[in-house]
Amino acid sequence: MKIFSKTLCLLALSYAAASCCQTSQTNVPVYLDEEQPLEIRVEDALSRMTLEEKVKILHAQSKFSSAGVPRLGIPELWATDGPHGIRAEVFWDEWEQAGWTNDSIVAFPALTALAATWNEDMSALYGKSIGEEARFREKDVLLGPGVNIYRTPLNGRNFEYMGEDPYLASKMVVPYVQEVQKNGVAVCVKHYALNNQETNRHFYDVVVDDRALYEIYLPAFKAAVREGGAWSIMGAYNYYKGQHACHNEYLLNDILKGEWGFDGVVISDWGGAHDTDEAITNGLDLEFGTWTDGLTMGATNGYDAYYLADPYLKRLREGSATEEVLNEKVRRVLRLIFRTAMNTDKPFGSLCSPEHYDAARTIAAEGIVLLKNENDVLPVDLSSVKKIAVIGENAVKIMTVGGGSSSLKAQHECTPVEGLLAAVGDKAEIVYERGYVGDVTDIFDGVATGQDLSESRSEDQLIADAVKLAESADVVLFFGGLNKAACQDCEGSDRFGLELPYAQDKLIKAISKVNDNLAVIIISGNAVAMPWVNDVNAIVEAWYSGSQAGHAIADVIFGKVNPSGKLPFTFPVKLTDNGAHALDAYDREDLSVEYKEGLYVGYRWADKFDVEPLFAFGHGLSYTDFTYGEAKCAKASVKAGADVKVAIDVTNSGKMAGKEVVQLYIRDEESYLERPVKELKGFRKIYLEPGETKTVEFVIEPDMLKFFDDAKHEWVLEKGKFTAYIGASSKDIRSEVSFEVR
Ligand code: GLC
Repeated sequence: MKIFSKTLCLLALSYAAASCCQTSQTNVPVYLDEEQPLEIRVEDALSRMTLEEKVKILHAQSKFSSAGVPRLGIPELWATDGPHGIRAEVFWDEWEQAGWTNDSIVAFPALTALAATWNEDMSALYGKSIGEEARFREKDVLLGPGVNIYRTPLNGRNFEYMGEDPYLASKMVVPYVQEVQKNGVAVCVKHYALNNQETNRHFYDVVVDDRALYEIYLPAFKAAVREGGAWSIMGAYNYYKGQHACHNEYLLNDILKGEWGFDGVVISDWGGAHDTDEAITNGLDLEFGTWTDGLTMGATNGYDAYYLADPYLKRLREGSATEEVLNEKVRRVLRLIFRTAMNTDKPFGSLCSPEHYDAARTIAAEGIVLLKNENDVLPVDLSSVKKIAVIGENAVKIMTVGGGSSSLKAQHECTPVEGLLAAVGDKAEIVYERGYVGDVTDIFDGVATGQDLSESRSEDQLIADAVKLAESADVVLFFGGLNKAACQDCEGSDRFGLELPYAQDKLIKAISKVNDNLAVIIISGNAVAMPWVNDVNAIVEAWYSGSQAGHAIADVIFGKVNPSGKLPFTFPVKLTDNGAHALDAYDREDLSVEYKEGLYVGYRWADKFDVEPLFAFGHGLSYTDFTYGEAKCAKASVKAGADVKVAIDVTNSGKMAGKEVVQLYIRDEESYLERPVKELKGFRKIYLEPGETKTVEFVIEPDMLKFFDDAKHEWVLEKGKFTAYIGASSKDIRSEVSFEVR
C-alpha cells in the first residue's frame, strides 16, 4: 500500500507541476519549490487545498500513517515507535507486526542508560544512529524520545525516560532531537505532560502547582522545543486541570505554542483524543489511534469517525468551527510534511550498520553504573580466575521484546551470557545456573524472542543448584533485576513495590553466604530495594542495554571499559523514602493525583528531609579514583545579570584511565519563595589518564539561578548569596564556594 501511494503522489506531483497556475521562476508551483522559504510554500499549498483535504490531513488513515494531499502531490506521513529503535512494520490497521523480513533493526540502549552516560556526545551519537535507521525505514516521525520526570520508582515506563532531574533531562534530550532531525525525520517528544505513572494512565487528573510544573516537569520538553527544535510533540493520555493533555488549553495553547513559540505539530497519543470541540480549540493538530466503537477493527471508514474527521467537517460546514483555526492546524501539518516526507535533501539513512552496532555498544558501556565495588571484585582479572559462575534469568533473557510500544524486532541481541562467553573465550570456564524463574513470555505483538525459558525445577531446587555452583566458582556474576513483563518495566502498568521480584533477594543472600567474590548486576529501568546491599561486595546497574548489552556488560566486567555511568535517579532504601510515597501521593485508586511533594522530587526530597539514599542521584564509581581540588570563584560578587565562573581541578589519582562526571549544584541561600536545598545546574564529563589533572570550569548564567514565581507567572533572579557545590554525586560533595549576586 505504501509504495503504491508514494507512486501516486509522484505522478500527481508531476501533473501538479505541469498544470498548476502559480509558478515560480523555475516553472514549479511555489509549494513544490524547495528554494522558496518554508512559510511561503506552506501558504501556497494551503491556498490550493479544499476544506475536505484540509480536514483529512489532521488525522490518521492507518495505525501509523496520516493522509497527504494526492491531488497536489503532497505525500502522507509515516510515524513509528519508538525511543530505542524502529518498531517492526505492522498491518495497516493493527498493532500486530506484519511479518516483513526487512524491518529488523538495531536496538539501542533504553533512555535511562543514555541519561546515565551524563554525556551529551552520547546523546548526539544516539540521535544520529536511530535517526539513520528511521530514515532508512522511510519513516517521517519517530515517536520518541520520552522525557517524563521520574517521580515514582513504580512507574512502568521510567525505562523509556531520562531520570528525576529536569536539568539532566534538558541537557541530554537536545542532541538526540537535533541529530535525529538532521535525517529529515521528526522527533515526537513525549508524553507532554505529567504522564509520570501508568496506573489509570488514560484517566487520572494531575493536581500540581505551577512551580513544580515549570521547575520540574516542563523543562525537558521546553529544551527539546527551544534548543532542540523539535518538529512534533506527543500529548499525554492523562488529564491536567480537567482537560486531557492531548487537547489542553493551558499546556498546548498557552505554554507550548504561546510561551515557547512551538511551530510544530501536536500529535495525540494513540487514543489520547476524546472530544471534537476540545480537540479543535485546545491545540491538537494530528489525531492518531482513536477508538471508534470498533469501526477501526479492519473497517476502512473507521478513520472518518475520528474526532478531527467527519465531526470536524460537519462543524466547519455548519459554521460552528472557523476555518481560521483549521488553517492554523493545517499549516503545522504541512510544515511537518515539508520538513520530512517532502524534504528531498534528506540523507538515505542506514540500517543495522556496523556503525550502529558500535554506537549501541559504546553508549551502553558508557551508561553502565558501578554502584559498589569492594575487595576489588571488579574488574574480573581473567588471568587469575578459572571458573566463572553466571547465575540468574536476566543473564540469558531477551530484553528488547516486550515492555509495550518500545518493543523491538532486533536483528540481534547479545545477552549478558553471550557477551561474557565472547569475551572469555577459552581463558576460563563459564557455568550457568538459572537461579530463579521470572517471566517466560516469548512474544509481543507477533515478534517472538525464539527463547524457551520454561523451567521444571522448584524455587528451592533452583536456589540449591545455584548455591552449589557458586561454592565451586572463583567468581560469581549474578544477573537479576526486572524485565519487560506487565507490572515490571512495562507500559500500561506500574510495579507494586520496590522489591526485586521472583525471590531474588533470598537467592542473592544464599549465594553471598558461600562466595564473597560476588558481583550483582541489575538489569532494570527502575530503582530496586537491596536488603542484601551489605552482604555483596560489587553491584552494577546495567539497564536495558539493547542489541549490544552482553558485549557492553562484558567490556565493563573485564575492565576493557572503565565504568563512568552516574545514576539519573535516586535509589531509595525503601519506597517511603520517596516524596510521592512518603506523602501517600501516589494512589492507585484515586483518579485525582495530587503531586503533594511539589518541587521535592528525587534528591530534592532526600536533601530536604535528610533521607539517606541507598545510592544517590549522580552516584557512580570508577575502577580508578578521582581527587578534587578546591572550588574557586572568579569573582565573589557579581552584578545581577552577569555570569559567575567557578573552576576546580580534578585529578585521576588511580592507576587506570577513566572518565568522571563533575557535577555542579547550586543553593540559593536566601529566597522569598522556598527552594530545594540544592539543584543540579551543570555537569562535565572529563577523561583523565592516570596522574592527569584537568581544570573544570563552569559558567553559571543568570537563568540558572532563577526560580519560577507562580504568583507572578515569571522566572525571577533574586539578589543575595548563593553556594556552588561541586561533587561526584548529589551526596558526595567535594568542594563548595559561595558567591553573591548584587
Ligand atoms: C502508546 C504509547 C506511545 C506510543 C503510541 C504508539 O500507547 O503511549 O508512547 O508511541 O501509543 O504506539
